[in-house]
Amino acid sequence: MDEQQVGLDESLRAIWQNHTGNTCLKLDVFVDAQDAHLRRFRGTAARMLEIGVLAGGSLQIWQKFLGDDATIVGLDIAPATARNAPDYKVHIGDQTDSVFLAEVAAESGPFDIVIDDGGHEMDQQITSFATLYPLLRDGGCYIVEDAFTSYWDEFGGGLGRAGTFMEFAKQRIDELDGDFHGAPTAFTRSTTSVHFYKGMVVFEKKPNEPPQYMISMDGELTHRPMNVGPGFADEDPSPTDDTTGGGPA
Ligand SMILES: C[S@@+](CC[C@H](N)C(=O)[O-])C[C@H]1O[C@@H](n2cnc3c(N)ncnc32)[C@H](O)[C@@H]1O
Repeated sequence: MDEQQVGLDESLRAIWQNHTGNTCLKLDVFVDAQDAHLRRFRGTAARMLEIGVLAGGSLQIWQKFLGDDATIVGLDIAPATARNAPDYKVHIGDQTDSVFLAEVAAESGPFDIVIDDGGHEMDQQITSFATLYPLLRDGGCYIVEDAFTSYWDEFGGGLGRAGTFMEFAKQRIDELDGDFHGAPTAFTRSTTSVHFYKGMVVFEKKPNEPPQYMISMDGELTHRPMNVGPGFADEDPSPTDDTTGGGPA
């Protein structure tokens, strides 16, 4: 029985170190980054979906980290995992089944946090992201653990290989910056950042407008749209009597 008492000021790493509940498996390099991205949800009624339940220990750890007001939901293809985590709702199904994923989101979401620690195969990670990221709440965070399987042949990976999750994630960088090459998408407008850690990718979702220049001059702050198109790289964003040097900051 896990009787660990946790305050909301305790780090995720400390919670891990002191965990006495069900077994949990995670690469140590993920922990501090996850703490940094997810601590804003602590003490809130956040809803988290974790793909990949196994022994159920990670669901317990997330509950301790986020607090009693949070709702932690699991998803796994193996029915036995639901019995490992009787205190949690565990949806049984395949993370490559986008219809099933949408049903999970409709029934137990909308989610503020999704952690993909499932089968780690390329189509699993990509289909889950493509289905669940648009359904993630604004202000939410989507984490793909063990993205290093993109380099491993037995998971469908290979360094630089087309169709891997890492190649998919790298393309999202250009989409994040869609305003700067004239091709913004729904992903551009809904994503503020993509973070690459060792073996893990984190997406921060929040509505955003096209970037504007902020021009501070003589104690006055003005905004000016950034024009994207032929010659825009030569554009001087500052007022006509500029003495500041101008040019893209
Ligand atoms: C790495 S374990 C999860 C570990 C757990 N999150 C933890 O931290 O201890 C991966 C889990 O993903 C599940 N899984 C594998 N393929 C899946 C799929 N296609 N859909 C959903 N779950 C899958 C496995 O049954 C297994 O329980």
